[in-house]
Parts: sequence; structure tokens; C-alpha cells
Amino acid sequence: MMVGSCFAMLLALLAWGCAGNAGNAAPLNAATGKHPATWVQNHWADYVKTPDQCRSCHGSTADPALAGGISKVSCFTCHTNGVNHPAGWADPAQHGRGAKLAPSTDGMAMAGFAHCAKCHGDTYSNGLTVSCKACHTKAPHPDKPWYGTTPSGTNHNATDPGNAPECFKCHAAGANSVLKPLTVPPAGTAPGCFNDTMCHARF
Ligand code: HEC
Ligand code: HEC
Ligand code: HEC
Ligand code: HEC
Ligand code: HEC
Repeated sequence: MMVGSCFAMLLALLAWGCAGNAGNAAPLNAATGKHPATWVQNHWADYVKTPDQCRSCHGSTADPALAGGISKVSCFTCHTNGVNHPAGWADPAQHGRGAKLAPSTDGMAMAGFAHCAKCHGDTYSNGLTVSCKACHTKAPHPDKPWYGTTPSGTNHNATDPGNAPECFKCHAAGANSVLKPLTVPPAGTAPGCFNDTMCHARF
């Protein structure tokens, strides 16, 4: 009985010790040598806080040949194209088109605004890395009207409507836009491009 409760206390202390380091160390259960059960869904949030903390066990996050490390789990086994951007990504035809695509459903493709927000921050200027406004200055996309008049002919109209919840963060009820909705939509209406929740009325 005594031994049992001491053991339980030791486990509790171990668990507490890991959690106590949460600021800078990825959660890994010392007893089982495994991450928590929900890790596949949320490991990215810890990576974004401090990428270095993953490399100590997983090796390189940029070079597949040097990936794996002492954990022998390479990021590239799942992220086959890597977690970093490909060369030439600053080109609007790459990153701009990528942002406008339907949001990535498995979290792997660089597609959709919500996906960008994971690393660039939920306001697009408070993330792990460069702010979208470092280049765009006003918004996480070209200046207004963003309607084919910008230098590279970019246009918001080819944005997949699946991105609407992200647009809604800044364009609810016509905010930041010259277009305002014509009527007030019923309470609880999900953000959409053409339902009066943002800029355009029902077609
Ligand atoms: C102390 C060493 C250590 C650190 C630090 C560490 N890992 Fe791991 N990781 C492992 C080991 C060991 C495994 C294999 C056991 C397991 O799946 O939990 C693993 C497995 C994984 C897996 C696969 C999980 C699965 O279910 O297949 C992912 C994803 C992962 N780690 C991501 C990360 C990320 C992201 C970080 C940084 C935030 C990180 N790890 C930091 C040791 C570590
Ligand atoms: C067992 C497969 C697996 C391994 C190994 C793995 N990941 Fe992931 N990763 C995923 C999945 C699945 C998602 C999408 C999670 C979600 O949003 O539900 C993801 C998402 C991410 C994201 C968020 C951005 C994005 O592309 O969706 C980052 C950053 C990330 N992983 C980094 C890493 C790093 C760094 C490693 C290696 C240390 C790693 N991953 C290893 C499966 C894996
Ligand atoms: C897994 C994390 C992650 C995700 C997801 C992500 N980025 Fe990035 N992004 C970075 C990091 C880190 C850098 C800085 C290093 C680099 O340029 O690769 C960066 C840099 C950039 C740059 C500057 C590139 C340059 O060469 O100056 C652009 C543009 C960019 N990202 C756009 C996007 C867009 C658009 C999306 C969504 C479609 C996105 N990013 C998703 C992590 C990410
Ligand atoms: C290194 C500079 C740079 C960074 C950082 C950057 N962009 Fe861009 N982006 C550009 C340029 C240049 C254009 C073209 C501008 C124009 O047409 O006026 C562009 C265009 C775009 C477009 C329009 C594409 C189209 O076809 O309509 C979108 C959307 C976009 N960027 C999203 C983002 C997002 C989201 C981020 C942050 C995750 C980001 N950008 C960060 C330089 C950058
Ligand atoms: C983080 C905030 C933010 C997000 C997210 C955002 N926007 Fe914007 N948007 C702005 C701001 C700020 C402006 C005004 C820019 C200016 O003054 O040039 C703007 C302007 C625009 C304009 C021009 C409006 C006009 O009056 O001419 C369009 C079109 C637009 N956004 C579309 C979108 C779409 C589509 C999305 C989602 C894919 C989106 N925005 C996501 C902040 C945002």
C-alpha cells in the first residue's frame, strides 16, 4: 500500500516536472517515452512557439537527409514536402495563390488563409515568423481594392469561399471595405462571401 502510493506520487511528480517545463520543452512522458495522445493534432502549436525544441530529438526540420535525430521520427515521414516553404515562395503567384486555395483539410498542403495563420499568427502579424504586413503593410493581402488593379493583376475574386471564416476576422459587417451588407443577416449566420455577413449581399 505504502509502496503503491509512493509510486503514484513519483509518477505525479514526474508528470508535474514535465508540465513545469512547458514553456520551452515539448511534452514527452518520461515513463513511456511518448508524446501525449493528442500530439498529432496539436504538435504544431509547440513547434511554432520554439522550433529549436523539436530539433534536439527530431534532427533537421529543413533537410530530409539530416532529419530523424535520436527520436528516429522524421518530420518528413508525414510532411513529405517539408514544413518549410519551397524556393520562390515570395512570388505572389506561389504564396498568394496558395493562400486563396481551399483550406488544407489534412494540414499538409500550404493552402488556405487559416493554414498560413498557424505559423504567421492568427492576426497574420503575431506568429512564429515574418508578418504578412512586412510586405503588404495594411492587410494580409494586397491593398484595396485588390481587384485586378494591383501590379501583378492579383484579385480577391478567385479566393475559395472556404476561407470566409478568416476574412470575417477583419471584414465582419463590411469592416475595412467600401462595400457594406444591404441587410442584417439572421443572428448566427455562418460567415460567407455572399450572405450579408461581410461585404456582398445575397446574389
Ligand atoms: C525529448 C525528445 C523529444 C522532443 C524534444 C520532441 N520529440 Fe517528438 N517524438 C519523440 C519520440 C521518442 C517520438 C516517438 C514516440 C511517440 O510517437 O511519441 C516522437 C514522435 C513525434 C511525432 C509522431 C507522433 C505520432 O503519433 O506518430 C511527432 C508529430 C512529433 N514527435 C513532433 C514533435 C515536435 C513538433 C516537437 C517539438 C515541439 C517534438 N516532437 C519534440 C521525442 C521527442
Ligand atoms: C505522424 C505524422 C506527423 C509527423 C511525424 C509530423 N507531423 Fe506535423 N502535422 C501532422 C498533421 C496530421 C498535421 C495537421 C494537424 C491538424 O491541424 O490537425 C500537422 C501539422 C503541422 C504543422 C502546422 C502547419 C501545417 O503544415 O499544418 C507544423 C508546423 C508541423 N506539423 C510541424 C512538424 C514538425 C516540425 C515535425 C517534426 C518534428 C512534424 N510536424 C512531424 C502530422 C505529422
Ligand atoms: C509551417 C509554418 C508555416 C506555414 C503553415 C506558413 N508559413 Fe509562411 N513562412 C514560414 C517561415 C518560418 C518563414 C520564414 C522563412 C522562409 O521564408 O521560409 C515564412 C515566410 C513566408 C513568406 C516570405 C518568403 C520570402 O522568401 O521572403 C511568405 C510570403 C509566406 N511565408 C507566406 C505564407 C502563406 C501565404 C502561407 C499560407 C498559404 C504560409 N506562409 C504558411 C512559416 C510558415
Ligand atoms: C516578401 C514579401 C511578402 C510577404 C511577406 C507576403 N506577401 Fe503576399 N504578396 C506579395 C506581393 C509583392 C504580392 C503581389 C502584390 C500586388 O499584386 O499588388 C502579393 C500578393 C498576395 C496575394 C494576392 C494573390 C492573388 O492572386 O490575388 C495574397 C492573397 C497574399 N499575397 C497573401 C499573403 C499572406 C497571407 C501573407 C502572410 C502569410 C503574405 N502574403 C506575405 C509579397 C509578400
Ligand atoms: C487581418 C485582417 C484581414 C484579413 C484576415 C482579411 N482582410 Fe481584407 N482587408 C483588410 C484591410 C485592413 C483592408 C483595407 C486595406 C487598404 O486600406 O488598402 C482590406 C481590404 C480588402 C479588400 C478591398 C476592399 C475595398 O474596399 O476595396 C478586399 C476585396 C478584401 N480585403 C478581401 C479579403 C478577403 C477575400 C479575405 C479573406 C480571404 C480578407 N480580405 C482577409 C484586412 C484583412
